[in-house]
Amino acid sequence: MENKIDRRNFMRSSAAIGAGLFVAPSVLAAAGKADDINIALLGAGAQGRVLTDSMLKIPGIKFRAVCDIWKSYNLGNMSRLLKKYRHENNAYVDYREMLDKEKDLDAVVIATPDFWHAEHTNACLEAGLHVYCEKEMSNTLEGAKSMVQTAKKTGKLLQIGHQRRSNPRYLHCYNRLIKEANLLNRITTINGQWNRAAREDYAALPKYHIDQATLTKYGFKSMPQFMNWRWYKGLGGGPFVDLGSHQIDIFAWFLGANPSAVIANGGTDYYDKKTHEWYDTVMAIYEYQTKQGVVRAFYQTITTNSSQGYFETFMGDKGTLQISESASRGSVYRESSAPQWDKWVKKGIIKAPVAEKKEDKSALLDVRETLSPPAFEIPIGMGGKKYHQPHLENFFNAIRGKEKLNCPAEIGYETAVAVLKANEAVEANKRLEFKKDEFEV
Ligand SMILES: NC(=O)c1ccc[n+]([C@@H]2O[C@H](COP(=O)([O-])OP(=O)(O)OC[C@H]3O[C@@H](n4cnc5c(N)ncnc54)[C@H](O)[C@@H]3O)[C@@H](O)[C@H]2O)c1
Repeated sequence: MENKIDRRNFMRSSAAIGAGLFVAPSVLAAAGKADDINIALLGAGAQGRVLTDSMLKIPGIKFRAVCDIWKSYNLGNMSRLLKKYRHENNAYVDYREMLDKEKDLDAVVIATPDFWHAEHTNACLEAGLHVYCEKEMSNTLEGAKSMVQTAKKTGKLLQIGHQRRSNPRYLHCYNRLIKEANLLNRITTINGQWNRAAREDYAALPKYHIDQATLTKYGFKSMPQFMNWRWYKGLGGGPFVDLGSHQIDIFAWFLGANPSAVIANGGTDYYDKKTHEWYDTVMAIYEYQTKQGVVRAFYQTITTNSSQGYFETFMGDKGTLQISESASRGSVYRESSAPQWDKWVKKGIIKAPVAEKKEDKSALLDVRETLSPPAFEIPIGMGGKKYHQPHLENFFNAIRGKEKLNCPAEIGYETAVAVLKANEAVEANKRLEFKKDEFEV
């Protein structure tokens, strides 16, 4: 009987499971090839390529279709690339045609511009497919809310692309360093930054330009706007939403709380305001009311200087954690008032600083007195995987009923509420409060 479970039915029956339960390995074994997941990629631009690069390394993922409105460039290139990797696929310009014709899909991975996310996600969920949708979940709260509602209504899985939620280094910091060892003790302040270099707008060679009728049909005024959609109101959320959503999501995760207020200042100070409607520079301060007390979190996005890179620093009264998706950053600093951390080094939660191993162990480790205090390290790496692979694996394993989603629609929504409000605060030029029920759908 078990052997008769076919691939499609298996995927359907395990669908509900991603939200909570696990499937017995015997059922999976019986399903055999049933473990394969047929997918389509919707949006084959820069991020679509990054996700594909990871998905090609995940066993059991079968690309069946690609959809992208840029036929002469991204669509053709991606379709050919997938064929090279022996993923026979059909190429579509319009997602509706793809959903009409492709009848053996299990899931769609969406990496289109933010203003398309709600329509694409809702249509795919309604078509009975599981969805991995890139952040920002939507450029509007109404859009993001409708996605949560459709996921609930259809019972399909919806993972939002805040990939740090599945990153083994971030999971280690949250589960072991903060929760188990409590190395920071009471977190009082946070400093998050994403500093990007100044750069020219993207441009495409004339021979690859999309005709105006197609651009208009899909919501773009011109080819330059199509290439640089992030900067436009109504299409993206600007650098603060684009980049900040990743990091402000981590603030809420690690604190176990959503913000209670935000104050922000920013503007388009450097680029041309006509082609950069969203702010190129934003500095915001969020307030959180946690069980341990108030936390104030500074967050900045700048687009004119990259020297300081990108990171999140959590500061507590016993220690500091600085982490970044970039593997080059990941340090933990002990306050002199904290008990020694030898026990946690032995347990593998942190790695001792090189200086402390070689030198006098009783050396003063006081961040107030030392310009560069000894840095303990996070002893966990990516296991040879690129940043997005674990989050995609989590999504596919949730479809198989083996794991729970690490970033379901409800969490993506909470983050959307938090980041979109900062843009509002810049515009209003005042402190804005969040009502508790604002984070609920
Ligand atoms: N998680 C991350 O770290 C990360 C990083 C970069 C981008 N992203 C997100 O991925 C998404 C895509 O960003 P990008 O940098 O790849 O942008 P991009 O402009 O490079 O690619 C977007 C692609 O979508 C296509 N497209 C536009 N409208 C479409 C439609 N209606 N139907 C089908 N295809 C359509 C475009 O032709 C283009 O190929 C955004 O939501 C972005 O925020 C996430």
